[in-house]
Amino acid sequence: MNIIVVGGGGREHAIIKKLKENPAVTLIYALPGNGGIAADAVCVPEIGAKDIDAIVDFAASHAIDFAVVAPDDPLALGCVDRLHAIGIPCFGPDAKAARIESSKVFAKNLMKQYGIPTARYEVFDDPAQALAYLQSAAFPIVVKADGLALGKGVLIANSLSEAEAAVKTIMEDRAFGDSGNEIVIEEFLTGPEVSVLAFTDGTAIRPMVSSMDHKRAGDGDTGLNTGGMGTVAPNPCYTPEIAQVCMDTIFLPTLAAMRVEGCPFQGCLYFGLMLTPDGPKVIEYNCRFGDPETQVVLPLLKTDLLTIMRAVENKTLGDLTVEWQDGAAACVILASGGYPEHYEKGKAISLPAALPENVTLYHAGDKLEDGKLVTSGGRVLGVTAAAPTLRQALADAYAAADLVDFDGKYLRHDIGQRALAALEG
Ligand code: AMP
Ligand code: GLY
Repeated sequence: MNIIVVGGGGREHAIIKKLKENPAVTLIYALPGNGGIAADAVCVPEIGAKDIDAIVDFAASHAIDFAVVAPDDPLALGCVDRLHAIGIPCFGPDAKAARIESSKVFAKNLMKQYGIPTARYEVFDDPAQALAYLQSAAFPIVVKADGLALGKGVLIANSLSEAEAAVKTIMEDRAFGDSGNEIVIEEFLTGPEVSVLAFTDGTAIRPMVSSMDHKRAGDGDTGLNTGGMGTVAPNPCYTPEIAQVCMDTIFLPTLAAMRVEGCPFQGCLYFGLMLTPDGPKVIEYNCRFGDPETQVVLPLLKTDLLTIMRAVENKTLGDLTVEWQDGAAACVILASGGYPEHYEKGKAISLPAALPENVTLYHAGDKLEDGKLVTSGGRVLGVTAAAPTLRQALADAYAAADLVDFDGKYLRHDIGQRALAALEG
């Protein structure tokens, strides 16, 4: 089978490595891929993940049997709709279903209409009305741009003046362009956060092992928000009892709501949850695998990934048992110094000659220059270890992270500490 995987980060590397475990997979093209992915797939650096016309032309001319569209942008732009139109089976939602991530207003209204627990909110398309509303609001409060904003469109304001500044940044300075035509202003929630990625064919759902992201740049959850500096799985806060509550009050109602709205969701639906004192609530939906959640979740998957993805496409997921390994996984992100703000690129990367069998390097932001790997992005590599215990997985991931070097290498040193505290008390 010939497969294309759209995207070029650590998440796509993890998907590709897992797909390769199926012996029927003969060739994987990564569009665009990256320097490290080139060891596992044929990369096509000239086709970006948002070049939908070029992706469709490529698929049409390379005898492609299956496509996996991983990032949010091509999903929102209708990449799956276009590939389906030329008869290529895909894993990923169509553009209508992808609105669950690409429009926060759509997602919030869906939850309100169908009684799915989430933060109370108001929607505004006029900055003057938003500013007037804030005069009588309680703080902290959360201001969110409606559309995609590279994970940066959520501003938590501790005071009226910060909230006013957030509205102005999004709606008047248009920091996120058209994504800020509308905003959601919502109640600030508290509690542990859990990421649950789930395979779904629109009706059947198979939640994956839960995980915990570390979004802030600095140790102790300080500093700016990033795409994610590390992850662990499973998330010890997510007990079987809470999982059942989420299934009954969030997961199944969301799928049913999407069906009633005429946009059944097929693909990986990511539930960003907060376990509040009033029970689990949805912070956000994503229409795709998380990054770097995928780098700790897929290594624990026992069932063949391609089989699951085809069952999602064929709407036969209900017939499939999806199995997970016991134990834990941890991923430590190695970033370029200065990320998520200014950072330099083009630094030579030195990798160890060999790694322990339970450790995998997922390449996120690098490229090949004269046959040598150099940095090309903010998040450069994810170092994942799987082990019987979280403590061991963290020790192994950090030991391997020490063996990778590039000028300006930056990492958090406390990935998994909160999870260990929750586990070990
Ligand atoms: P998002 O991009 O929607 O995932 O938001 C980024 C981060 O902002 C989340 O991971 C939360 O930590 C935080 N956040 C978003 N919405 C809320 C909320 N209503 N209450 C508290 N924190 C929030
Ligand atoms: N790690 C958060 C996300 O993928 O959105």
